[in-house]
Amino acid sequence: MSELEVLQALGRSATDVVLGRSLVTTQEWSVDDLDTIRAVARALAELDRAGVRTPLCPAELAWAVFFDKSTRTKSAWAGAAARLGMHPVIVDGSSTQVSHGETAVETGAMLGMNAHAMGIRHDLILGEGNTFIRDIKTGIDDYLDATGDNRHVPIVNLQCDVDHPTQTMADLIWLEENLGDLTDRRITVSWAYSPSYAKPLSVPQGLVTLLTRFGAHVTLAHPPGYQLTDSTMAAAEQNAAGGGSFRVVDDMDEAFAAADIVYPKGWGAYDLMVERVDANAAGDTAELAAIEQRALERNAEHTDWICDERRMGLTSGGDALYMHCLPADIGDEVSPGVMDRHKLHVAQEANWKVYVVMALLAAAKVPDLAGVLAGLDEEAQR
Ligand code: CP
Repeated sequence: MSELEVLQALGRSATDVVLGRSLVTTQEWSVDDLDTIRAVARALAELDRAGVRTPLCPAELAWAVFFDKSTRTKSAWAGAAARLGMHPVIVDGSSTQVSHGETAVETGAMLGMNAHAMGIRHDLILGEGNTFIRDIKTGIDDYLDATGDNRHVPIVNLQCDVDHPTQTMADLIWLEENLGDLTDRRITVSWAYSPSYAKPLSVPQGLVTLLTRFGAHVTLAHPPGYQLTDSTMAAAEQNAAGGGSFRVVDDMDEAFAAADIVYPKGWGAYDLMVERVDANAAGDTAELAAIEQRALERNAEHTDWICDERRMGLTSGGDALYMHCLPADIGDEVSPGVMDRHKLHVAQEANWKVYVVMALLAAAKVPDLAGVLAGLDEEAQR
């Protein structure tokens, strides 16, 4: 059965139910709806890789604003929009009037009147990005309601302080491509030493909340002081109660033992991530720089937290699947040898993001999506 046939078999109601939907966190979506988006992403990948064009949303504006650096997600946004016939525009958040104090609600209203979809990355400060995204959505929706404009402008979270849902959905598809059903698979999400910067919490948080919904045995490993938010931990524990399990350890070897999949990456020490909140609110750039320095010094107390050949040897069959959202600190988070062995794997993992973004935009905008894609496929075969 082709991926398009799998999608068609889900029935029109499976895709029509997500029309107009925004993705802020995966936790807010049902497993069925997340299954649908992955099925759409797989069908779109199959068509794209076969050279079938899918210009489903011609002449629409796909606006994205980034308040942090990005390589993969920016290009995935642009690549997805281009494949859908949309016009992608990507703006540096610091170049917008948000930096002069215009609120997210005001900004949403202004962008929503012109755009047909919006992506947002706002991931550096705890408590800010997720709220910003929701306020943007409020601004857009209030404007559209007030003007009787019946357009839906779906929002896609391109990484906030809470979650990185296009990343974790891409990760999940890549995992399923390699391992099939995740039930009873042992997945380790581990902190690893990073000297580059205090990385956001959103990737490990997004992973432990998403993967615990699919029956996996998820282990979170980190040194003391690198905990995730309480709400993340509560969600992961609650999700795992439906099957699989969730545990936390403070020993990287223990976390790697018998793991089928390892996902080692750095993130900032929790108390310092919290300290950043006030410094940022005060616009105290000197204090922010001092906190960042302390974060790197704290990380440097744990340089032995590296994914190397010895640790990979502890995993299931000595051959776990290594994953990383990228960019990785090679030589620190992961040894050059392990990265070299898995460099194609992590590129293939990253490649799913363009199809996840495509799926979210197409499913939000196109009624009877499977039927429309089948029509495009038939046309291409003629
Ligand atoms: N993994 C990820 O989000 O990569 P970028 O920061 O390059 O977008």
